[in-house]
Amino acid sequence: MYLFGGSGHCKVIIDIIKKNNLYEITSIIDDNPVLDKICGIDIVRRVKFNEDDSLFISIGDNKIRKKISNKYTNVNYPILIHSNAVIGINVSIARGTVIMAGAIVNSDTRIGKQCIINTSAVVEHDNIIEDFVHISPNATLAGNVSVGEGTQIGIGACVIQGLKIGKWCTIGAGSVVLKDVPDFAVVVGNPSKIIKYNKEHE
Ligand SMILES: CC(C)(COP(=O)(O)OP(=O)(O)OC[C@H]1O[C@@H](n2cnc3c(N)ncnc32)[C@H](O)[C@@H]1OP(=O)(O)O)[C@@H](O)C(=O)NCCC(=O)NCCS
Repeated sequence: MYLFGGSGHCKVIIDIIKKNNLYEITSIIDDNPVLDKICGIDIVRRVKFNEDDSLFISIGDNKIRKKISNKYTNVNYPILIHSNAVIGINVSIARGTVIMAGAIVNSDTRIGKQCIINTSAVVEHDNIIEDFVHISPNATLAGNVSVGEGTQIGIGACVIQGLKIGKWCTIGAGSVVLKDVPDFAVVVGNPSKIIKYNKEHE
């Protein structure tokens, strides 16, 4: 398997792959000229993929993950689940998504492609998490929450039950979200309030 992106996030991905003994990592693709190895694995600048190659995008930025996965469409994107994550019944998880250590995803939740459910995040029952979302460490979504494409729920934030969080939003670290959030909004605080809007992008 190849990893795309040699960041700190990549180290956590390597840890999951090695602990679960899932795949052999061939190399990490990154164009940063000062990097030559991460966790003992060689960095390469580019790879010509074959159709049966597995690729995992180890980049935390939601927009960049989207761009790369749209560029490389003919490879296999695995799903990575840490052995200490808890996944409830009837949960569906799409390709390229990682569920990290200590995370809990409860029954009947649907998680889209290329998402990050980070360390100790809690995604309760009946959530709908669209593609390219990042639920940061220790964030908690109560039941029946929906999160639109590309949104980041910040570290330690919580969202009460039944809310709709729009696409490409940023929920600030530690925010307490008590009402729906419109597309592209950046919200912070307790109770959370909109401070600005993210730029729409292609
Ligand atoms: C919300 C966030 C994106 C805003 O970042 P930013 O655009 O650089 O905004 P600024 O730092 O300029 O802050 C703007 C204002 O919002 C306040 N603010 C920013 N983040 C806040 C937060 N999480 N909670 C409360 N207030 C916050 C700032 O104090 C500042 O207030 P002021 O105008 O009164 O001084 C960022 O602070 C944040 O919380 N990011 C989440 C990071 C995270 O969870 N990372 C996990 C990685 S795994």
